[in-house]
Amino acid sequence: MRKPEDNSSHHKTPPKKTLDRVISQAGLGSRSEARGWIGAGRVTVNGKTVQTPDVWVDPERDRVSVDGRPLQAASKQYLLLYKPKGYLTTYKDPEGRRTIYDLLENVSERVFPVGRLDQDTTGLLILTNDGEFGDYVTSPESKVPKTYLVKSSQRLSGEQLDQLCNGVVLADGPTRPAIVNRVRDSEKYTFFEITITEGRNRQVRRMVEALGAKVLKLVRTRIGPIGMKDLEIGKYRTLTPEELASLRKPSRSSRNGRRDGPPHASRNGTSERAANTSRRRGHNG
Ligand code: URA
Repeated sequence: MRKPEDNSSHHKTPPKKTLDRVISQAGLGSRSEARGWIGAGRVTVNGKTVQTPDVWVDPERDRVSVDGRPLQAASKQYLLLYKPKGYLTTYKDPEGRRTIYDLLENVSERVFPVGRLDQDTTGLLILTNDGEFGDYVTSPESKVPKTYLVKSSQRLSGEQLDQLCNGVVLADGPTRPAIVNRVRDSEKYTFFEITITEGRNRQVRRMVEALGAKVLKLVRTRIGPIGMKDLEIGKYRTLTPEELASLRKPSRSSRNGRRDGPPHASRNGTSERAANTSRRRGHNG
């Protein structure tokens, strides 16, 4: 499998990395687990025990071992899972609840989720053992857009959707501008799509709560340009090299906006503005 674009390939000497990152990127576990092993004296660099996770190492020259076993470059895995409701995005649950790992079969490397979905959220979740790639996709600086389909507990007005679009103030600060499309209203509920470029804890639920409503259903339908296609719920597939490359491309949809109507219709600025204006004048506004 081809690796995603390696931004460091133009460096003559590979950049140094912190010890915890090097261990995590070898696919052994998360960075916090690595920090625990380092603190416990289980890690050596060039034969010497090192107990500081922030120490810089050169992954190509320095010999790093955990419990006496040298790190080996794990083969990189990039999976796309359609997470069902009721599964936790953790490795193990002390209460014995189902986790996403119960859905994985024959995955030879230890993969970890790129970001999190709440237990009741369904939809797309990437799993990988490539820490650098995972960091890129989750970093707010990368602005990789994530799209959610939301069912709210009440009908939302045009002004309320505009608030989501322009940003609402949460306990951890204001949200970035988002793209919001009303999909349809039923007698009691509004169904809408929201695309955000951050991934804060329970962000969409908290944004809707800031409007005085609740999220009844939440589905992540898209990560960057990658949609659900024919992926069945509870199943996963390998991401293609083209999909990996597309996630690395700067996003074209980081500008905010709101549109009413079914998703995936044309997105030109004029009709978006017209839709907003007409909605504000209409019975929902
Ligand atoms: N936002 C949420 O509120 N929950 C999720 O699971 C994902 C995004």
